[in-house]
Amino acid sequence: MKKNIMNFENVALNEQEDALIILDQTKLPCEIKMLHLKDLKDIWQAIYKLQVRGAPAIGIAAGFGLYLAAKNIDTNDYESFFSKFHEAKEFLNSSRPTAVNLSWALNRMEKIVINNHNKNISEIKELLREECIAIKTEDIFTCKKIGEYGLTLIKNGDGILTHCNAGQLATSKYGTALAPIHLGRERGMNFRVYCDETRPLLQGARLSTFELIADGVDTTLICDNMASQVMKNGWINAVFVGADRIAANGDSCNKIGTSGLAILAKYYGIPFYVLAPTSTIDMNISKGSDIIIEQRPSEEITEMWYEKRMAPNDVKVYNPAFDVADNELITGIITEYGIARQPFSKSLEEIFKSAKNNKRG
Ligand code: MRU
Repeated sequence: MKKNIMNFENVALNEQEDALIILDQTKLPCEIKMLHLKDLKDIWQAIYKLQVRGAPAIGIAAGFGLYLAAKNIDTNDYESFFSKFHEAKEFLNSSRPTAVNLSWALNRMEKIVINNHNKNISEIKELLREECIAIKTEDIFTCKKIGEYGLTLIKNGDGILTHCNAGQLATSKYGTALAPIHLGRERGMNFRVYCDETRPLLQGARLSTFELIADGVDTTLICDNMASQVMKNGWINAVFVGADRIAANGDSCNKIGTSGLAILAKYYGIPFYVLAPTSTIDMNISKGSDIIIEQRPSEEITEMWYEKRMAPNDVKVYNPAFDVADNELITGIITEYGIARQPFSKSLEEIFKSAKNNKRG
């Protein structure tokens, strides 16, 4: 089998080395470079700098990172173990604020420590090891299920517009928004995928096109401001995007530019779908305006990617990394437990009910 980007594991735990292995996404598509990270500060930096990125992949990396930190805590006393563990957890949690999968994975790990306070520290460490591995294994299954549901909404040859990278590189396999496309490829289907380049960090240009081409998908790159034109041309049958945090009312926070796409899709009568695991739905947040939006450094706009700075030195810069698509613009939210539709406050609750039943069963 020819080794291409689709065959790489982008987030992994190496137990011989006691290291988190990530594919450095800041180097793509020019260079395939694996990073071996052992130190908690380096793992924090890797998340902050987007060397590992995409909500589910951040959660998986954080789970592995916290396990490695726990392994290094040298005490047999539960109280002192828990206090050091909690400190490491809070530190990793401070790396990026918007994607809820980060705190979701870290809370899952902390729950193991709390629920097993009566066990000895080496047993707790083993349970933490199992939990972080489970977070990754479940993600593969989850993404596949999202792909299955997504495939019921499109047909062979359809044109799909996507934004940022919610593909395999952002998860452990298949992706979320791109899961139907990759799963469709496994079944001999093909789609015409239009990728917004996704200013300022170019996840669409550098990552989505890279993985789609590697999978043999008919891929076209457009600048973000061309989305309206391709919709007007009649080339788009559906918009598929991922999410970083979905509020209980269905408002969906994703890479900056997503909200504009949702408005355009409504204008042109094109269905707009958000594809995300239930771990991205934050039922504690009632509406999108309560979601904390990460602000990033101004250099990402003024000089990154350019040979020389392309804006006056004293210009003010506003660089929010995410925005919120209002729920009334969203046709459906595709999760591993089915497709939620309006009214989302009700359908998302139903989705969580099936999740609970499924876990029991
Ligand atoms: O800043 P990034 O690159 O981490 O932002 C990623 C996105 O916005 C993705 O669409 C989202 O995390 C879903 S990934 C399956």
